[in-house]
This record gives sequence, structure tokens and C-alpha cells, in this order.
Amino acid sequence: MVPSAAPRPDVLVVGGGIIGLAVAWRSAQRGLTVTVLDPDPGHGANHVAAGMLAPVTELQYGEEPLLRLGIASNERYADFATELTEASGGLDIGYRRCGTLAVALDADDRAELREVHEFQQRLGLETQWLTGRECRRLEPMLAPDVRGGTLVAGDHQVDPRRLGLALVEACRRAGVTLHRSRAAELLLDGDRAGGARVEDGTVVRAERTVLAAGSWSGELPGLPPEAQLPTRPVKGQVLRLRMESLQGPLPMPFLSRNLRAVVKGVHLYLVPRENGELVLGATMEEQGFDTTVTAGGVYELLRDARELLPGVTELPLVETSAGLRPGTPDNAPLLGPTAVPGLVAATGHHRNGVLLTPVTGDALAAYLTTGELPPEAAPFTPARFPQHRLPEFAR
Ligand code: GLY
Repeated sequence: MVPSAAPRPDVLVVGGGIIGLAVAWRSAQRGLTVTVLDPDPGHGANHVAAGMLAPVTELQYGEEPLLRLGIASNERYADFATELTEASGGLDIGYRRCGTLAVALDADDRAELREVHEFQQRLGLETQWLTGRECRRLEPMLAPDVRGGTLVAGDHQVDPRRLGLALVEACRRAGVTLHRSRAAELLLDGDRAGGARVEDGTVVRAERTVLAAGSWSGELPGLPPEAQLPTRPVKGQVLRLRMESLQGPLPMPFLSRNLRAVVKGVHLYLVPRENGELVLGATMEEQGFDTTVTAGGVYELLRDARELLPGVTELPLVETSAGLRPGTPDNAPLLGPTAVPGLVAATGHHRNGVLLTPVTGDALAAYLTTGELPPEAAPFTPARFPQHRLPEFAR
């Protein structure tokens, strides 16, 4: 007989990264009983992420629904941060309204950035084109050959590690049960999701199961193959430096706002925190569940960053890490009902997990309590992929 963790919650969230925790916290606030299953809650891909909140800067052609979702989340970040700090007993999540500067170094990069800028303008987004000289006036440490850029005043940052800690605490205070184990298998009761079996054999049953296991969401056994969510890991290597010199404080701020660039076609970003940390990322590597930090990855990030900010290689390098973004076939998230009644998706956020945490928490909590996804989240159900368009999408 398999031991069962009692009592049976309304919702089991499989995966306690920032997405799973935000869903759990918001659902508990709406009166649901929630259990989160994760060996180390708050310590998922967010532990590697830089925390740039940049839906306008990172706009891509053909991704207008994702832009709307990103903007909806960005707009509620300030209130989300205030509320989360209060709900966690005072934990600051490092939300900083700093704006983002995207720059180009050569003519090709400049042309690409200019096109994105025109596209941003056509969509009515707040963005300003700057000459190279204007970019350097804002950020004096930029290389002399920066050719131009865009300033997006509304794209900010948050500290994803602190966000994870605060969500764990807010969940705890809201009465969420944190079951610190790994899910081994999803369970079905007939054709309905029935919870999960944990590595030690414990069974956690629940009315609804939210799958928020990031890159592992499509790997958990237990579902019929056609219902398996289409996630895959996309590796990102990230460096953490300190904006200080061996001789003491730097004579001027090294970098005042998020910096993004296309360096010879490769995308790069630097996120400077108020505490002196500078996060530099990130590689994009499709090679399965590998989180090795490689000499080549570190070399390429520093080589490209030095083109932009020649002083960067003088800074102390304090940490290297690699994480896995949960990609999907269109690299947009999977939110809401799945082909399995009672199984709800909150995963596949790819490059946008930190940005989309507030809107995902709100959307999933609304879905779990009302049966309706808010309009900004509605385009992101797994049913947009033909194999997930099974006859009945039950709740
Ligand atoms: N959001 C940045 C990244 O995924 O690297």
C-alpha cells in the first residue's frame, strides 16, 4: 500500500520554481488549498536568470500576443513587488525601474536594431532612437564604436533569486504546503489527472494538478504520449561579476541601466544591480539536459561583452552558472487546460519566465477558481498545437 500525504489539496503544483510558486501563492490567496512539490522550492531556472524585464526591447516579429502578455506582466510588476514584499514579511525582490538601452556595434547590427525600433513604433510602444554619442552620454563606459541604440524607459529589472526566496516565504505564510520532494510520476484517475507519485513512493492526490516543472514538464512519466507537454531544455550560460576594481570603488557607475546588444548577430545582455552585481548573459544552446559551464561559453560571453564595454574584463568574475529555459515549439508559454482533464499547464516560459511570473500567477489562479483564463493568457493554451487539440478540454 502506497502511503498518501493527507489531506487532499484542491491543487497540487508540480514544480516549485518561480512560476509554480506564483501560481500557488495566488491560488492560496483565492482560498484554494495548495501543495507544491519540489525538492528545493524557489531554486529553479530563476537561480541562473538575470531578471531583465524587457518585453519591448526583446520584441520579435510575429510575437504580438507574447508582447501583450509581457506588457501585462511588466505593468503589474511594481504592485506585485510591493505586495510580495509585504506578504513575505519584508523580503525585497530587487525590483528596479532602470530602463533598458539596446545598442549596435556595426552596420548590420544597427540595421537590425533600427528595424526593431520601427516595428516598436508601429505598435505604439515607448522607445527612443539614440545616436552612438547619445548612448555614450547615458553610459560613458560604452565602447567608442557603438553606432546607435534604442532606449526603452519602461523595461526594468528584478532579482530572480530574491524573487524565489520571497515567493517561498509568501507561499508558506499563505498556508501553501511545500512538499520538499521530486515528482516521479503523474497519476491518472481514469482519464483524469489525479496528482503525483513522489520519489520516495508517497502519493499526493489533488482535485487539480498544475504542471509547472519547467524543462522537465514534458518528461514526467504517467501521461499518455499524445498528452505529454511539448517542452525542451534550452541551455543558457550566465556570468556574475562585481562592478568594483581591485583598487576600490570605480570612479563612475560602470553601468546604470540594463544593456542589450546584438554583437555580430549574437544577442547579449548585461544587468547591473544596485548592490554592485553585474549579470552577463546568455548563451542559447540546444543540447538537452546539460548544465555544464564551458570555457567556450564563458569566453564568448566575455569576448562579446568586451566589444561593448571594454572595461568589463577588469571586473572580478565571481560566479559562472548554466540553467535550462523551458522552450516550446513556438517558444511561448503553455498556460491553462491540457488534453487531460484536471491537468493544467503553467510552463514553457522559455526566455520570459521572470517577466511572466506575475501574469502567470494571476492567470492560473483565475483559471483554477473560475474556469476562465484572462484574455491576455487565452492564446497560450497547449491546444494551439494540433496534437494537443483533443476532443474535450475539461477542467
Ligand atoms: N531572458 C533572457 C534569457 O533567457 O537569456
